[in-house]
Amino acid sequence: MVADADALRQCMVEGLARRGELDQRWRAAFTEVPRHEFIPELVWRHDREADSHCDLVPLRRCDDEQDWLERAYADAPVNTQVDDGHPAGEGGCGFEVTSSASMPGVVAEMLAALEAEPGMRVLEIGTGTGYNAALLAHRLGAGNVVSVEVDPVVAEHARQALAATGLSAVTVVTGDGAQGYLPLAPYDRVISTVAVAEVPHAWVAQTRPEGLVLTPWGSPYHPGGLLALTVRGDATATGRIIGPASFMWLRTQRIPRYITDRIVRRDDTVTVSTTDLHPWYVAGDVNAATAIGLRVPRCEKLYHPDSSDTGTLYLVDQWSRSWGTLQITTEAPYEVRQSGQRKLWDEVDTAYRWWVDVGEPTVDAWRFTIAPNGQQVELCTPAAVPTR
Ligand SMILES: C[S@@+](CC[C@H](N)C(=O)[O-])C[C@H]1O[C@@H](n2cnc3c(N)ncnc32)[C@H](O)[C@@H]1O
Repeated sequence: MVADADALRQCMVEGLARRGELDQRWRAAFTEVPRHEFIPELVWRHDREADSHCDLVPLRRCDDEQDWLERAYADAPVNTQVDDGHPAGEGGCGFEVTSSASMPGVVAEMLAALEAEPGMRVLEIGTGTGYNAALLAHRLGAGNVVSVEVDPVVAEHARQALAATGLSAVTVVTGDGAQGYLPLAPYDRVISTVAVAEVPHAWVAQTRPEGLVLTPWGSPYHPGGLLALTVRGDATATGRIIGPASFMWLRTQRIPRYITDRIVRRDDTVTVSTTDLHPWYVAGDVNAATAIGLRVPRCEKLYHPDSSDTGTLYLVDQWSRSWGTLQITTEAPYEVRQSGQRKLWDEVDTAYRWWVDVGEPTVDAWRFTIAPNGQQVELCTPAAVPTR
């Protein structure tokens, strides 16, 4: 028998509440908005056993209604589009997730951090399925929600789901969210459900003074912070990272998924050295990784374990095709191999030592300023970091 959607939703809400992820002010929205109505009939699941790089396998609602419905109410993202709507693999299999319904726990935490109250006007960037827009509409009023989605097919699906759930007054705009949506500005809040490395100034310019811009922010090295910015009267905004958040990138700032072994090759140009620095320090510590990401541009890290305490850390600049690897063995020294015009391990090592020398600042010690001439990120003492 297929599980009942209402019962699954209740279970999801109770799980969020039990884990402390659900702000009471949003409980009614999570309880009453039917998430499964926003999930398309066709979704994709990761098949870790797949022997193709296109490891996102299609799952149709009609093939397994129970599985589809359980995914709609699991505390996990649901992949709703791959490869910008044109699956790269055979049989509809995909390489890269390009739209998803975000994980409910993360959605709940972002909504709590948004500090939005009924009646406020909100601009959402990245409509996706429309579920987050529906939650916003439930609490703030559908006419107060504007959402921008770059993909026309995705945007149209969201419009239809919102209409089917009685929320057609939400404005869904098809366009580049980096531009915001000027015709309905100013907004009290801007919430992005796509990650950026550079916060578009349009989001600040279209938010009223004292309003809030909330966005996942990251670098290729560490794509994982939730940035909260308060807008000032002079068209600038300042703020800091208030927690973790890992999202797909804004299309115009996208860092494409790459195939490691097409870049990392056993070739003659490799230089080999050793280090005593355990890779955990540069890859596993969120505070160090945030600092390294800010100081070492265009460098991604990827860890491939061989066992619980051995494996390989890859550092890759897929644009210049430079790479470095660190072989993690049970004891130091660890072998370092580097190739290409950049010596990525040397850069990461230098940035890590700088971070140690300046007192190992935590993620919230970085102050972000978004001004008409761009984004500035600087280290400041805890006392100088603005809090909301
Ligand atoms: C993680 S999904 C959003 C989840 C969504 N809020 C929900 O509730 O289902 C990110 C979405 O952002 C969209 N996106 C990516 N770049 C964009 C851009 N430049 N402007 C607007 N939307 C964009 C993607 O197409 C994708 O649908």
